[in-house]
Amino acid sequence: MSWIVLENVTKRFSNVVAVQSVSLQIEKQDFFTLLGPSGCGKTTTLRLIAGLEFPDEGRIYIAGRDVTMELPKHRNVAMVFQNYALYPHMTVRENIAYPLVVRKIPKDEVRKKVAFVAESLQISELLDRYPQQISGGQQQRVALARAVIQTPNVFLLDEPLSNLDAKLRIEARSFLKRLSMELGTSVVYVTHDQSEAMALSTKIAVMNQGRVLQVGTPREIYDKPINTFVASFIGNPPMNIIECYFDGSTCVLEGRRIDLSELSLVAFPRGKGFIGIRPENVLLDAKNGEIAGEVYVVEPLGFETIVTVKINSCSVKVLVFEDVPYKTGDKVFLRLRKDKLHVFDENGVRILRRDEL
Ligand SMILES: Nc1ncnc2c1ncn2[C@@H]1O[C@H](COP(=O)(O)OP(=O)(O)O)[C@@H](O)[C@H]1O
Ligand SMILES: [Mg+2]
Repeated sequence: MSWIVLENVTKRFSNVVAVQSVSLQIEKQDFFTLLGPSGCGKTTTLRLIAGLEFPDEGRIYIAGRDVTMELPKHRNVAMVFQNYALYPHMTVRENIAYPLVVRKIPKDEVRKKVAFVAESLQISELLDRYPQQISGGQQQRVALARAVIQTPNVFLLDEPLSNLDAKLRIEARSFLKRLSMELGTSVVYVTHDQSEAMALSTKIAVMNQGRVLQVGTPREIYDKPINTFVASFIGNPPMNIIECYFDGSTCVLEGRRIDLSELSLVAFPRGKGFIGIRPENVLLDAKNGEIAGEVYVVEPLGFETIVTVKINSCSVKVLVFEDVPYKTGDKVFLRLRKDKLHVFDENGVRILRRDEL
């Protein structure tokens, strides 16, 4: 049995189904991320694992034990919330020590452990200050320190980096990944930020409207998204999804016919469907290509440049890694890398290639 198991878990709040028939299997060594837009049920799922909510249906197991109706204090979980919830009347030292003090751990041991986690989180010099006397980034580290001083069955982290500014967030992310490798137990992490999920996780569960759509490694989610929702939620910029019509193994895209016979799909949609292509897999050329368009805007980001190209009724984002000789209004041609093309049916479900069966 996996370390944490959710079996067909459903949670309703009056007429809102916050979590709908969710099943998950999380291993002890997993950094497992729940990823999805605001309101999709991530926090509720985390609170169900913590025991802060109880499911209407389904079972929850932690470390081989059915904990479905058990109180949080019997589950041995450590949780870090979005707003750090440090105790304002306690020093940093007292905040970090708190989980051990309530368990009546001997004072000597508490002192040693506080010193150790403070050292590893680089907050030793802050131990005698109060939360309001330190920065947001430092508060976040203190909240993490208070979690990691425990030896729980699982760490539950709900958007712990979201209150940090962009630069600090990237820094804290690297730190968190490194830290998680040393924790020795699973982390269940909630975020709506796909780049955070990609960077940190061993496994990602993409959620929408209370349901889990797909579970996989970051690579699987990126390369083999199950549908257009997952495809367009992941990547920066995300995958281009273009409506088109299928006629056998050719697809008609904005009036142009593209031959897809070499894709070796298990089947082709009939009639309406979608083509998906990531921005790094579209090539731009001034003279030749499959699809003619016009440059809408060019956004240089330093290392890479995003070029948005208008084709009749749709626009396609292209990621370019060398100098871009184009400007707004230029006529250009697009070529789609065939081996990187995804085909989705009318309902947005991705069609598998034969080698994926
Ligand atoms: N205590 C609650 N009472 C009523 N509705 C709630 C409660 N908690 C969450 N919800 C609703 O459940 C849905 C999922 O919420 P939540 O799990 O917080 O989503 P997320 O964390 O992905 O943003 C939302 O529609 C939200 O409004
Ligand atoms: Mg939330």
